[in-house]
Amino acid sequence: MLVELPLHLRRALETQRDGISDAELARATRALSDRYRAGATDADPLLQSQADIAAYAAYRVPATYAATFAALSALREVRPDWQPRSLLDLGAGLGSGMWAASTLWPGIERMVALDAEPRMIAAGRALCTTTTHPALHSASWRQSDLVQAELNGSFDLSLLAYVLGEIEPESIGQLIERVWTATTDALVVIEPGTPDGFRRVERLRDQVIALGGFELAPCPHDPPGRVPDHDWTHFSVRLPRSRTHRLAKDAELNYEDEKFSYVVLARAPLERTYSRVVRHPQVRKGHIYLQLCTKTGAQTVVVSKREGARYSRARKVAWGDIFEWDDPPE
Ligand SMILES: C[S@@+](CC[C@H](N)C(=O)[O-])C[C@H]1O[C@@H](n2cnc3c(N)ncnc32)[C@H](O)[C@@H]1O
Repeated sequence: MLVELPLHLRRALETQRDGISDAELARATRALSDRYRAGATDADPLLQSQADIAAYAAYRVPATYAATFAALSALREVRPDWQPRSLLDLGAGLGSGMWAASTLWPGIERMVALDAEPRMIAAGRALCTTTTHPALHSASWRQSDLVQAELNGSFDLSLLAYVLGEIEPESIGQLIERVWTATTDALVVIEPGTPDGFRRVERLRDQVIALGGFELAPCPHDPPGRVPDHDWTHFSVRLPRSRTHRLAKDAELNYEDEKFSYVVLARAPLERTYSRVVRHPQVRKGHIYLQLCTKTGAQTVVVSKREGARYSRARKVAWGDIFEWDDPPE
């Protein structure tokens, strides 16, 4: 899947680097990425200047937007008639999740963004003033520490994108309880596609299922499937790199692949189950090997050319797609 930033957001993000030289942007990107890896502290906070915001806008927003768009698309795919009216974006950053949601569901009427970092809020709010989408334009941005925040109100859709990894593990359980209470329908969680990111998603999923929720994607089986300790379910989304993006990362390729793990949970189960491709399909002579998560757990299935229509479908699927394989062969 290739996901591009909407033109409007791309242009608005470019304004974040007004007055910041190429060299300063590249330096800020390196420093920011080092702080991410080391873990920010009160003495060495993540964002320390306007150049840091510009670096985040250039080097992370295209990727977090793409991964969030892909995860929200999975929800829209399995519930095509659903239209959320309200969205709560927790740890909203510059608001990439809200932009993605407004692209997929233009009918969203109310958006609330929570973040602890005042600079992110100021920049995210400024980006929102550049759009004519009514809910995005009038989104409510609130400075709030998720670990303590009271989550007032109720929301059709709640989003935690790339934020759990920044929260003390011992605080996540009670945060999820509060988020789930504030969610009237669906909760979408996205983390980096690393073993740690996946395990955070998996723990959260188990907690929400214990609270009465259901997994809609990526793998809607009941009880939830177990992934062996040495493995982790993750997906990949491709995004183009703008000149500023390449500059910020000191990179030459004009695209990158963002790996992410995600889960879509809801208060009601889907009426159907399906299988999803969880690795790149392996195409061999006359056969395609698909690694699937199915309603009975992880399985590798081999689709032979002799299977006609099923083989044609298998040729078209990609890592991350739904593949209905346990229906009768055509
Ligand atoms: C990696 S950014 C992700 C931003 C956005 N969700 C995205 O996908 O681009 C994490 C965000 O979570 C915020 N954050 C981290 N810990 C937080 C906390 N305890 N309370 C509120 N926000 C927090 C940070 O300020 C930052 O904006």
